[in-house]
Amino acid sequence: MAPPDFDEAFRERLHELFVWRRDVHHFRSETVPDEVIERLVRIASLAPSVGFSQPWRFVRVDDPARRKSVIDSFERANADALSAYDGTDAQKYAGLKLAGLREAPVHLAVYCDQETPSGKGLGRRTMPETLAYSAANAVLAFWLAARAENIGVGLVSILEPALVTQALDVPPAWQLITYLCVGYPQEVNDQPDLLRAGWESRDPRATTIIRR
Ligand SMILES: Cc1cc2nc3c(=O)[nH]c(=O)nc-3n(C[C@H](O)[C@H](O)[C@H](O)COP(=O)(O)O)c2cc1C
Repeated sequence: MAPPDFDEAFRERLHELFVWRRDVHHFRSETVPDEVIERLVRIASLAPSVGFSQPWRFVRVDDPARRKSVIDSFERANADALSAYDGTDAQKYAGLKLAGLREAPVHLAVYCDQETPSGKGLGRRTMPETLAYSAANAVLAFWLAARAENIGVGLVSILEPALVTQALDVPPAWQLITYLCVGYPQEVNDQPDLLRAGWESRDPRATTIIRR
């Protein structure tokens, strides 16, 4: 198959996709068809991984009791996080919506299989953390592919990973990378919520290239 020749119009659209990818917490109620989720997971599985280990594991959570355990975990972890702030930060934190777990029609936990034999350890002898980085690559691929289908994704890390792993009955060697809320967004924006809420501003260090 001849390789594609990406043109300027494609690059502009791709840039728009990056600009308009958002962390979404407000979802419409209609669900996302199963085949769409399956396609997005297949696309995400094109992500790069250390040694071609493909350590990501997508766990779809439909069972109401398991979902409730995850929501309860979020609420405990979020209350605990709030108690670590004071003053205006505490006030601001309390006003943030940091997950759309109740509204999201689709829940996906993303794990990294720390015991996968795939890749035969290539590339991670001195940097074992690259296995988890690889799973995180699949998360970003899923996020962007979803946005390209006008589907919103919200990441949740304000969770107790051991309790979530237990509630989802997955092997203890699987490391929770993040928990995804997926659905059609109520609104779309080209700026992060946390920027618009005044929690954080853009850090110029993040786009500065340091030369040595
Ligand atoms: C690994 C990871 C974990 C995150 N966990 C949460 C979370 O628990 N709650 C939340 O509201 N946002 C979470 N986010 C989303 C970030 O807050 C968001 O990406 C950031 O504010 C920038 O906004 P944007 O994604 O809309 O550009 C997470 C993002 C990443 C990459």
